[in-house]
Amino acid sequence: MDIKCYFVAGGAGFIGSNFVRHLMAKYPQAKVVVYDKLTYAGNVANLADVADDPRFRFVKGDICDRYLVDRGVRGADVIVNFAAETHVDRSILEPDAFIQTDIVGVHTLLEAARKYGVKRYVQISTDEVYGSIEDGHFSEQSSINPSSPYSASKAAGDLLVKSYWTTYRLPVVITRASNNYGPYQHPEKLIPLFVTNALEDKPLPMYGDGMQVRDWLYVDDHCRAIDLVIEKGEKGAIYNVGASCEKTNREVTHRILELLGKSESLIKHVADRPGHDRRYALTAEPLRQLGWAPLKPWEERMAEVCQWYSARRDWWEPLKSGDFEEYYRRQYPDLMAKAGR
Ligand code: NAD
Ligand code: DAU
Repeated sequence: MDIKCYFVAGGAGFIGSNFVRHLMAKYPQAKVVVYDKLTYAGNVANLADVADDPRFRFVKGDICDRYLVDRGVRGADVIVNFAAETHVDRSILEPDAFIQTDIVGVHTLLEAARKYGVKRYVQISTDEVYGSIEDGHFSEQSSINPSSPYSASKAAGDLLVKSYWTTYRLPVVITRASNNYGPYQHPEKLIPLFVTNALEDKPLPMYGDGMQVRDWLYVDDHCRAIDLVIEKGEKGAIYNVGASCEKTNREVTHRILELLGKSESLIKHVADRPGHDRRYALTAEPLRQLGWAPLKPWEERMAEVCQWYSARRDWWEPLKSGDFEEYYRRQYPDLMAKAGR
């Protein structure tokens, strides 16, 4: 496809910023507009290495803002929507922003996509829309059964996107990925939280028995999958993105402690997440048929990730101060009680 300009909503977040780097390295002729509200999760530092590139433009804006979205999307060939409220625990504490961004924001982008006749609208979605699965795997045909306000709002967003294909023939694609990990992930999420806490010799708050299973996907593998479905994906289709790399939270935690040379006594079992999905597992046949596969094994990637966070305290230390400390106290009262705070 001849793509001159990508509009990347949420491009200052974890996956979005990695995707922008991927695009700019792979397509030297392409322009990239990042449109991002810069919530607590958005961070211009994630884009520092591309910020001065003449092909790159940053626009600060909310995807719910019709006027700004309209101006930003004009001239774009492709919209890729990463913008979302993304943390399950925060959706349990305060769901409002999730409904607004993950549903109303998606609708605002779809309207702009329809008005300007973009070549592709790509909705970055999640395996969490399928809910939990004890045995077997979800395919693209599985029904949705979300558990949290986060996953329910993402599922609603997906339904809207699908309806714009069915009704208006807007050339949409939906990707549903499993748990990502890699550089620039906000330290509220399991892997960066546990790695950075371990580096600081702070407790690692494990929910419940720690036997919940996630299918871990390295962020660059996810970015290559998104690029592939933009180029070769079928209009109106859903593509699961999963690496078939199932690990319990205990396994992930033990690996982190081993890689960092830290003691298992740092693990603290805390109250479980309400409505906690026990297991996510996906098949990704349509994507694999397009030629996609993860590039390196999990063991190797985990070592790289631990090294990255060890070397980039300058990046994550500021994110764990200020408002984050307030969130942390609210989210982990058991830890505070144990620490006598
Ligand atoms: P993130 O929380 O790191 O980044 C989200 C970005 O969206 C931030 O830059 C934030 O400022 C921006 N944003 C939030 N609300 C906005 C609004 N109203 N207007 C404009 N920008 C706004 O998230 P992430 O982990 O990079 O996830 C990106 C996308 O991928 C999300 O849609 C998420 O649902 C999906 N996803 C994430 C994972 C994962 O494991 N992280 C897995 C599957 C799917
Ligand atoms: O599956 C894809 C989803 O993965 C994305 O759609 C979400 O945006 C992303 O946040 C992620 O959701 P999870 O809830 O699976 O990720 P999180 O890192 O919050 O938690 C991973 C597992 O670790 C989960 O079983 C809960 C557990 N956990 C998490 C935290 C933050 C803990 O035991 N302790 C913690 O402190």
